Amino acid sequence: MFIKTYGCQMNVYDSERMAEALAGIGFAPVDAPDGADMVILNTCHIREKAAEKVYSELGRLRQLKQDKADAGGRMIVAVAGCVAQAEGEEIQRRAPMVDMVFGPQTYHRLPEMVARAERAAGVKLIDTDFPAEDKFDHLPSARGAKGVAAFLTVQEGCDKFCTFCVVPYTRGAEASRPVAAVLAEARALAAAGVREVTLLGQNVNAYHGDGPDGREWGLGRLARALAEIDGIARIRYTTSHPRDLDDDLIAAHRDVPELMPYLHLPVQSGSDRILDAMNRKHTADDYRRLVDRLRAARPDIALTSDFIVGFPGESDRDFADTLKLVGEIGYAGAFSFKYSPRPGTPAALSESQVPEAVKDERLAGLQQLLEAQQDAFNRATVGRALPVLIEKAGRKPGQLVGRSPYLQPVHLDGADLAADTPIGTLVECRIDELRRYSLFATPLAARQERRNVA
Ligand code: 5AD
Ligand code: SF4
Repeated sequence: MFIKTYGCQMNVYDSERMAEALAGIGFAPVDAPDGADMVILNTCHIREKAAEKVYSELGRLRQLKQDKADAGGRMIVAVAGCVAQAEGEEIQRRAPMVDMVFGPQTYHRLPEMVARAERAAGVKLIDTDFPAEDKFDHLPSARGAKGVAAFLTVQEGCDKFCTFCVVPYTRGAEASRPVAAVLAEARALAAAGVREVTLLGQNVNAYHGDGPDGREWGLGRLARALAEIDGIARIRYTTSHPRDLDDDLIAAHRDVPELMPYLHLPVQSGSDRILDAMNRKHTADDYRRLVDRLRAARPDIALTSDFIVGFPGESDRDFADTLKLVGEIGYAGAFSFKYSPRPGTPAALSESQVPEAVKDERLAGLQQLLEAQQDAFNRATVGRALPVLIEKAGRKPGQLVGRSPYLQPVHLDGADLAADTPIGTLVECRIDELRRYSLFATPLAARQERRNVA
């Protein structure tokens, strides 16, 4: 089986779950689609021209499927993810060689769908409903994870209905996994050697899982409980909405050292007029105050964001407000996008669309500022003492590669060190140098943590 993943971390995680579900019925992963028994395109709708890219990939797959048939075999071709959800029947019409189309809510039914597709060759399956049942219950839990860092889905869907966004339609209503299920999965990950978990959800800080005490727990409380698990040294979460960042989560950033001081908190725009038209439910000043409170709780916290330029009705003045906000906040990194109308979303219907040339110009201006900030942030880590979580051996003999709390790759040299330092160790380091995108560091040997290998 070959799975091609487009888009976000959520999709990477979903692909892993699909691979597991299919492994259960005998499909092994392969590195290329050629000759595979099953090919899944796990698609993402957020990026521009996503659907067109899927259709051109399907064009290429058609030949491979034919080759396989000529050799007496059968290749099942499936389209999954948000494009599948949104395009459904259209995919079957434009690419009739596709055997299965299924949306993000139905992965747990994958083995059953494949069995049906295998039995009834030629019968097409489309499964893009939002079933009432809880998909979390049906998926195999994360397997003996491969690495030091793992993703853990705690929440799915979104009720915010930002006027540019397809997520509430494609991923459905906001839903949180029960606390006990999250903790059990985290313990299993820790037992398999995972030291860093990234909690995932489209609107992750809307988390309100049923707790073992019969109450609903927010993300702050969940983070505190996760930090108690032996082996878990780092906790991250993404993506957050400014409106759902409550006092307890801010307090957790103050109190829980395992909660990394690096937060993706998309603001999208710095103009109140545009924020209102986007239905973001917060003003630029609300966001400034929130950042002030986060920084008061955790002074070394660094922020990243998403931005959309050229949202319908955005004037030069609105865009200037975005640049002003970026200048004030000072980001460690960011994603920025030109607004692109998504069918079925309210903003796509607006008659005040911004010309493409204006969007291009604004995007270039914003990215220039954001890149300068990212560069300044990376430079400012030189000279700091930071813990580095070792993830793997480097390319050079004796070299180790890990990550700083800010997800920056950090290289450590020294044969003695490598021989002595298992993957998964947290090493206190002095950052010496920045070369392109990587930091180079020297361990502060005395403060090196020994990992308790049971
Ligand atoms: N046009 C441009 N960017 C978008 N995003 C979401 N929908 C759109 C759209 N229609 C961006 C937002 C979001 C990120 C994941 O993708 O900035 O935070
Ligand atoms: Fe989309 Fe995020 Fe807005 Fe939800 S909060 S509608 S996922 S942009």
